[in-house]
Amino acid sequence: MQKILVTGGLGYIGSHTVVGLIEAGFDVVILDNLSNADKTTLDRIAQITHHTPIFFEGDIRDTELLSKICLKHPDIKAVIHFAGLKAVGESVAHPLKYYDNNVVGSIRLIEAMQKHHIKNIIFSSSATVYAPQKEAALREDDSKTPSNPYGQTKWMIENILKDQYGSDPTWRISVLRYFNPVGAHGSGLIGENPKGIPNNLFPYIAQTASGIRQKLNVFGGDYPTADGTAMRDYIHIDDLVKGHIAALKYSSDHKGYHAFNLGTGKGTSVLEAIKVFEKTNEVKIPYEVTARREGDIATCFANADLAYKVLGWKATKNLEDMCRDHWRWQQHLNQCRSH
Ligand code: NAD
Ligand code: UFG
Repeated sequence: MQKILVTGGLGYIGSHTVVGLIEAGFDVVILDNLSNADKTTLDRIAQITHHTPIFFEGDIRDTELLSKICLKHPDIKAVIHFAGLKAVGESVAHPLKYYDNNVVGSIRLIEAMQKHHIKNIIFSSSATVYAPQKEAALREDDSKTPSNPYGQTKWMIENILKDQYGSDPTWRISVLRYFNPVGAHGSGLIGENPKGIPNNLFPYIAQTASGIRQKLNVFGGDYPTADGTAMRDYIHIDDLVKGHIAALKYSSDHKGYHAFNLGTGKGTSVLEAIKVFEKTNEVKIPYEVTARREGDIATCFANADLAYKVLGWKATKNLEDMCRDHWRWQQHLNQCRSH
């Protein structure tokens, strides 16, 4: 049984990946400082998988703790590195916090990996590294110009990893650029639970359908798209998890540095997302088209051919699946709130 260290393993994408890894027969060690996660997620993971992964509460910048984990678990074969801060607006207001947590944290982690001969990493990057684009699907080799400090941290870490591979070609490095992950585990027991007012579309839609928010503001109705609202490539969290497992399997036979887009290749407008959510879940989402949100672009979707060609991975779930599973999770949260 291969042992994998998952940093940020109690967060949204991390917790789903931990479930996927356990179900695929991997042994998991989690490191998470709980800055954006709740420890009860560990119990939820155990409830779903009938297995409690090993958990260290702590920070990826804590060199001593990293050494302790590596010495205690010398059979760790790879790291899936999710730990990071991810709020674009906050990164503009507090850039140093982002550079410290994400970039310094990743350097400390890579140093520990090098020291303990764990030279296999899968890193969570983002579509936000690309330059705002033409109408076409984004390819891995398209130009990169992150437009905010959060995106800069992802692009810097990608480059640090590439240089690390340059200095020691026995490393196996997979950079996965996620587009817009949404949805939740089919059990309804784990999912994304943003603190405060959600920034992202799906959590906002789900809270509006629940009556927690009065109405959804649709940011911009004058984009050059069919219905005037912005288009994104929403990808079901289950498909994203499968992408990580495909990358892990690939890296066990291949050294090298690779970057892959993980998206469906299909753009969905805000109005389409609202309609499909309403129809799938038989709910009403009051909305109003308002001004564009600063920093938003008209369209952003992936060309995911490379992941298919190299990893044999492609997304299989559709927008209805995403809406149904997101709603099931929101209803679970609503129940917890009412008790
Ligand atoms: P999340 O906030 O739910 O999960 C991140 C986890 O990392 C949290 O549990 C948090 O407590 C932990 N963490 C943060 N800093 C840490 C540190 N210094 N030490 C230890 N633990 C730390 O976010 P997510 O949506 O699950 O995202 C996971 C990764 O994927 C992040 O790196 C994020 O930037 C990236 N990503 C997310 C999206 C998205 O839309 N969700 C898109 C592209 C990329
Ligand atoms: N939107 C609304 N109303 C809302 C929230 C969002 O109309 O209340 C619109 C946005 O304007 C955008 C679309 O819905 O057109 C999607 O917005 P999200 O905030 O859900 O997603 P983004 O594409 O803006 O950004 C997300 C993450 C970033 C990440 C990026 C690419 O928040 O961190 O995907 O991976 F970098």
